[in-house]
Amino acid sequence: MDRVERLALVSSAMLMAVFLAALVYAATQLGISVPTCVTDVAPFTRGQVIDKGNRHYEVHMVAKMWAFDPPEVRLPPGADVDLYVSALDVTHGLYIEHTNVNLMAVPGSVNAARFRLDTEGEYSVICHEYCGAGHHFMMGKFVIASAAAVPPPAAAETGGVALGQQLFEQNGCNACHSIDGAPGLGPTMKGVFERTVELASGATKVADEAYLEESIRAPNKELLKGFQPVMPEVPLTADQVHALVAYLKTLK
Ligand code: CUA
Repeated sequence: MDRVERLALVSSAMLMAVFLAALVYAATQLGISVPTCVTDVAPFTRGQVIDKGNRHYEVHMVAKMWAFDPPEVRLPPGADVDLYVSALDVTHGLYIEHTNVNLMAVPGSVNAARFRLDTEGEYSVICHEYCGAGHHFMMGKFVIASAAAVPPPAAAETGGVALGQQLFEQNGCNACHSIDGAPGLGPTMKGVFERTVELASGATKVADEAYLEESIRAPNKELLKGFQPVMPEVPLTADQVHALVAYLKTLK
């Protein structure tokens, strides 16, 4: 090898090492890192509807693969809405049909719109930024109906099956797993309990409680035949996993 060639190789390798060292130094010593995915702008870190009184509502919407949190917002007609949108993972969009409310949901930042919905009815919320395999399933809704501004029951008060259902919807499981037998990106959850399933390896297995729990904790470990390894691992407590399984068992 030519001497100049070797010099060029060695110096570029050294340059790479210097860059890597600088990166590690910045991250560990200076605390400089890439922006977090979850917006850290309190109080917009989770989905909620706040009644400010006098028909004024603040809606905090968190978009994530592949659902909106909260999945459904119920408000009375004529409500003035301040909508704040952020994203948990990648860039999503939020369009409310029949309105001119159209926002980007960007990780690490909050976008806002102020609007009023006078006409009773259901307004679908649609994600309009391609955000991965489940993009076209990503929907939420605003329901405008009199005397309907009742917040959903808090998780702590319900427990068991109701908590499981809430988790199923809030975590966007329903974007890919239907509960009525309709095909989707993931297998339907209709009658899933004790169903005999065929794994990608060709083996079969009965979907008992242990199997369902394992499939929620490590979704892509034992794939079903004909499905892609696209299900995200959702951080859940043991109690939450139990509640989800309790809910799945009711889907006959
Ligand atoms: Cu979220 Cu497309």
